[in-house]
Amino acid sequence: MSAFIVLGAQWGDEGKGKMTDYLAETAEVVVRYQGGNNAGHTVEVGDKQYKLHLIPSGILYDDKVNVIGNGVVVDPKALFEEMDYLEGLGIKITPEKLVISDRAHIILPYHKILDSLKERSRGKNDIGTTGKGIGPCYTDKFERCGIRVCDFIKPEVFKDKLMENIVMKNDYITKVLNGSPLDFNEVYEEYTKYAERLKPFVQDISVRVYDEIKKNKNVLFEGAQGMLLDIDYGTYPYVTSSNTTAGGVCNGVGIGPSMITNAVGIAKAYTTRVGKGPFPTELFDETGNWIREKGFEYGVTTGRARRCGWLDLVILKTTARVSGLTSFAVTKIDTLAGLDKIKICVGYKFEGKVIDYFPASLEDLAKCEPVYEEFQGWDNSVAEARSYDELPENAKKYLKKIEEFTGVKVSIVSVGPRRDQTIKVGDI
Ligand code: GDP
Ligand code: IMO
Ligand code: MG
Repeated sequence: MSAFIVLGAQWGDEGKGKMTDYLAETAEVVVRYQGGNNAGHTVEVGDKQYKLHLIPSGILYDDKVNVIGNGVVVDPKALFEEMDYLEGLGIKITPEKLVISDRAHIILPYHKILDSLKERSRGKNDIGTTGKGIGPCYTDKFERCGIRVCDFIKPEVFKDKLMENIVMKNDYITKVLNGSPLDFNEVYEEYTKYAERLKPFVQDISVRVYDEIKKNKNVLFEGAQGMLLDIDYGTYPYVTSSNTTAGGVCNGVGIGPSMITNAVGIAKAYTTRVGKGPFPTELFDETGNWIREKGFEYGVTTGRARRCGWLDLVILKTTARVSGLTSFAVTKIDTLAGLDKIKICVGYKFEGKVIDYFPASLEDLAKCEPVYEEFQGWDNSVAEARSYDELPENAKKYLKKIEEFTGVKVSIVSVGPRRDQTIKVGDI
């Protein structure tokens, strides 16, 4: 039995979708535990590309159970659009293949409106959210006025809770944020249809996942976003509203830590970030643009250009600690191929010392100056490598540096977007 986590080690978009798809081959159950359709996970199988947002990447297999945990926020409209998109590509989605927690919170139209109006009111201090209503939905969860799946699928309960929320939100939207009010009947009518369609997929997923693990099934927990977007350990307030670190699994699924065997951190061979907020190794020069174009660094969910920079080992070391990583999967080393020299950040100069941890205060972080080590590059033949031995020597040195600095082994190296462009180096 194994129950292992696949999580983003940087600011998201590290290749979690690809690695989940690759590792799901050995798993029977794939579980999302936090986030929502702010995520954009790309999986390439053969000549087909799939873009997943809310549905676990295991859905592409016929024989996996895919679970949306209670820690996830579910936009039913987006969920059904994604289901229809996948079914259009020939992927069958049945209640046997997809299970949704009765405790997950529902994203409603006012969450999306609030997301955009609040961003507007933040002015130049906006976060650069995906606009999917994620933050406002988690706010309601903690404010204790959220609507859970179990309430949503009971028309009378949903009606009362929706009425209460719409009255409250309309007040805030019109009086504080200068927006237009929502019509209760319109929302109720549209969303009760979604609720009806959702019903067959709903289960107590804590019981389900626990039982699967007890039956010795292999369970993969697919993270969304990345370590530095974590609400507690990320670059607050430029973060998402959930725990993206390994700790998010226990609360987001309803299982204990002793049931989790491994945690694989997915790390891109360089660093990217979408949205606002600090980024110590960001490149503003031609090299940054070159990496963006070569790696096609554009958001899957919003299409925004991703900011690009050198690999930052301070970040990876922090992720290794906070999530108790058992190994790293390093992706996109083929993207760096062709560069003469490649830099890695091995510490921050801060107040006269060199530190190797990520400071909490954004003011302190702004004072941090990355300390770099320079590496020799490698060529495009790296994309053809199918074993560790076939990797260019310089790429091996690069990977060794990651292991040495973080104290965590690299178990997988990804040299291209496809399933077959993956090299297993060691145990996860
Ligand atoms: P996720 O959000 O972590 O699942 O990552 P995204 O799907 O947002 O972004 C990663 C992108 O890189 C996707 O387009 C993947 O197909 C692609 N990708 C993943 N691994 C590799 C790799 O090793 N090499 C290359 N060139 N592309 C990769
Ligand atoms: P995957 O799973 C990269 C970023 C947004 C914004 C911040 C808050 O594909 O790695 P939110 O809408 O969550 O309130 O936005 O978080 N963000 C992501 N960046 N990859 C993601 O997901 C992201 N999900 C959210 O750009 O900066
Ligand atoms: Mg993504």
